[in-house]
Amino acid sequence: MKPHIICHMLASLDGGLHPSRYTESPDGSRAEWSGLYEQIHNDLEGDAWIVGRVTMAEMSKAGAHPPAHAGKVERPHHFARRDAGSYAVALDASGKLHFAKPDIGGDHVVVLLGREVEDTHLAELAADGVSYVVSQTPDIDLAAMLDVLGRELGISRLLLEGGAGINGSFFAAGLVDELSLLIAPALDARAANQGVVEFGEAGLAGKMRLSLKSCQTLAHGLVQLRYAVSPG
Ligand SMILES: NC(=O)c1ccc[n+]([C@@H]2O[C@H](COP(=O)([O-])OP(=O)(O)OC[C@H]3O[C@@H](n4cnc5c(N)ncnc54)[C@H](OP(=O)(O)O)[C@@H]3O)[C@@H](O)[C@H]2O)c1
Repeated sequence: MKPHIICHMLASLDGGLHPSRYTESPDGSRAEWSGLYEQIHNDLEGDAWIVGRVTMAEMSKAGAHPPAHAGKVERPHHFARRDAGSYAVALDASGKLHFAKPDIGGDHVVVLLGREVEDTHLAELAADGVSYVVSQTPDIDLAAMLDVLGRELGISRLLLEGGAGINGSFFAAGLVDELSLLIAPALDARAANQGVVEFGEAGLAGKMRLSLKSCQTLAHGLVQLRYAVSPG
């Protein structure tokens, strides 16, 4: 069964993705905003979180290190662990990500890969103690991949944590149940020029509706908006 999915994001007032580019607040608290984002991440009590390939590449900067002999690799999935307290999931269709260790901040890494990924890449991930799921369809079927995560790892509550590329894919596919949006008291002003906002570039009109559930003022002028997401 598909996990319950909560998209949790931090944005400037104009939809900027990068806190390091935000304008500072009068009390100089910009550095605290990411900490509040993490605190709410914990409060949302997901048993896994998922990010796009670009965002995971910022957390795992290892280079390629395929084993000399791939040997026999497992398809369509390999689970190095099934007992982790939390899972760090990355969507990496063409196998560009590499890992120096099998966890991100203690959360066990699971990579969702496209069908054409090479055996040598799967062997590298397995040797690193990383888990993976390979798509069984030419294009990644997100719903099917999430079903595997639910069935095999017991993931029932998943936090979707960006960036815009993966967020847009999940919203367009009708997979998101809730949105938790932290608005920082800041402007970015470069986001619009780059055409990149928090929820992709393809447009979501007609694909989803939002209903406001709560609005809470947090420390340092941040606001948390929570919405239920329903089909368009
Ligand atoms: N403010 C926040 O709360 C927040 C949170 C997270 C990230 N960020 C920022 O967001 C930025 C990255 O955003 P981004 O939009 O460029 O990248 P992203 O969403 O992290 O990754 C996009 C990539 O994920 C893969 N992907 C996404 N949807 C897919 C699908 N349906 N099927 C197959 N592959 C799919 C593609 O990889 P391939 O190109 O390899 O095919 C795509 O290029 C980072 O700079 C990060 O710091 C901000």
